[in-house]
Amino acid sequence: MCRFRLSRRLSLVLLFRIVGYVNQTISLPCRTNRTSELLTVEWSKEGITPNITLLYRHGSETVEEKNPAFLNRTRLTLNGGEDGNISQTIFKLQRSDEGRYQCRTRVGKQLQVEATLELLVGRCWQTLWLLGGSLNPAMFHS
Ligand SMILES: *[C@@H]1O[C@H](CO)[C@@H](O)[C@H](O)[C@H]1NC(C)=O
Ligand SMILES: *[C@@H]1O[C@H](CO)[C@@H](O)[C@H](O)[C@H]1NC(C)=O
Ligand SMILES: *[C@@H]1O[C@H](CO)[C@@H](O)[C@H](O)[C@H]1NC(C)=O
Ligand SMILES: *[C@@H]1O[C@H](CO)[C@@H](O)[C@H](O)[C@H]1NC(C)=O
Repeated sequence: MCRFRLSRRLSLVLLFRIVGYVNQTISLPCRTNRTSELLTVEWSKEGITPNITLLYRHGSETVEEKNPAFLNRTRLTLNGGEDGNISQTIFKLQRSDEGRYQCRTRVGKQLQVEATLELLVGRCWQTLWLLGGSLNPAMFHS
């Protein structure tokens, strides 16, 4: 069964939206123009505590503050964001991953919001087809 609840999401159409399906590996796009070696990348999700889904500091991931629901399921781009690509890859997507995500960078105390986006998760791949307007080639990882 491939049903998708669209109605309660209609108010969110103004946000950049990514659509995925359960068990997919997906990438939430984010770029930064900051180049500091001390760059901290912080991905968070609205409405969960702690809200950190990925914290990348001094060239490696810090898991202490990470929400347990995302343990072993998120990763920064393979090159660790060296080219400014600080997209967050999420493995084994779950329905509960739906929601609003924020990508921020920090250098010292200077915080910069780099991206805010909405993730929708359908039960199967037909979701992508139904919502064709939101398709993004970067989503097709697996
Ligand atoms: C990076 O982008 C931000 C806003 O997007 C801008 O305020 C800042 O000047 C830019 N910094 C550099 C080094 O280009
Ligand atoms: C996560 O929590 C921090 C600190 O309270 C907040 O600034 C940030 O906006 C939250 N992230 C989201 C996506 O709500
Ligand atoms: C995450 O991976 C580590 C080793 O890579 C493992 O010890 C741990 O049990 C895993 N945690 C979860 C929640 O799967
Ligand atoms: C950024 O990294 C993600 C994950 O590795 C990749 O899917 C995406 O194509 C990259 N974006 C750019 C603009 O290189």
